Amino acid sequence: MKFPTVFLFMLSLFSPAKVNLFLRILSKRNDGYHNLSSVFQAVSLGDVLNVSLHHKDELTCDNPSLPVDGSNLVLKAVQLFRNKTGLKLYFKVQLNKKIPFQAGLGGGSSNAATMLWACNQLAKTFIPSAILQQWSGEIGSDVPFFFSLGTAHCTGRGECVHDLPFLGDQSLFILKPQGGLSTPEVFRRLSVNHPVCEQVNRTDVETFLTGSFSYFNDLEKAAFEINPELLKLKLLLLEQGFKHVVMSGSGSSFFCLGEAALPKLSNVTIFSTRFINRSASNWYKVS
Ligand code: C5P
Repeated sequence: MKFPTVFLFMLSLFSPAKVNLFLRILSKRNDGYHNLSSVFQAVSLGDVLNVSLHHKDELTCDNPSLPVDGSNLVLKAVQLFRNKTGLKLYFKVQLNKKIPFQAGLGGGSSNAATMLWACNQLAKTFIPSAILQQWSGEIGSDVPFFFSLGTAHCTGRGECVHDLPFLGDQSLFILKPQGGLSTPEVFRRLSVNHPVCEQVNRTDVETFLTGSFSYFNDLEKAAFEINPELLKLKLLLLEQGFKHVVMSGSGSSFFCLGEAALPKLSNVTIFSTRFINRSASNWYKVS
């Protein structure tokens, strides 16, 4: 007797977090966004997406506090893929979450980029990654970065991505205090209380590339106004001997570079991680 052959193919993809090694806010735009200049770096802290073709969209997550409805960027990525390609394909996604939310680590954006990559693989549409990158800016400002090779200078509202040489296998700590910060709220506070630099500072990325790395984040002041405990945490970590302690994105997490011992901290989750990059033909992997 002959049985029909059923191919049940599941892709398991790593979805990395990012840190902003520097983040300069340049100007407020008429569309409400801010022009920025930032070096983004992918790190080995990340989520995993298990994706297969399905008769309908179905998203589940091991963290029950994450909404799994249409507001989730994973499902927004699926909808975008259908809209752009005209294909009536649906996906089952199981998301294992490690990247904390409201942390400035780009977790949702990374999940969306990873999902677009998965759709392209499973649908065998062979859309060039530069096109996926261009589409992905419609989901959010941080999504296109993840189609770089892991180290990039991002400008515009974040969606103009220029690949940079890899920075090497640098290890770092990421610390996430219990409270998160809302990205729109931090940007809103910035425009009210902190006039922004109108000049494009081209020297930032040039300085960075010549090896005199400078790490800073123009959103810190606004974030510290919303939650003064964050400034206390930064000062404590600097006192501890870390060379650089900088908030990532719109916070509330910090990354710490340099050799120092971590103090005893309550209500702070600590991740020991490292910079990662990918090759042009493969998605991110951690060994
Ligand atoms: O693009 P995304 O949806 O991630 O942005 C969330 C919010 O963050 C925007 O609505 C805006 O308030 C703020 N934002 C900004 N300038 C940027 C990126 C984000 O003002 N470059």
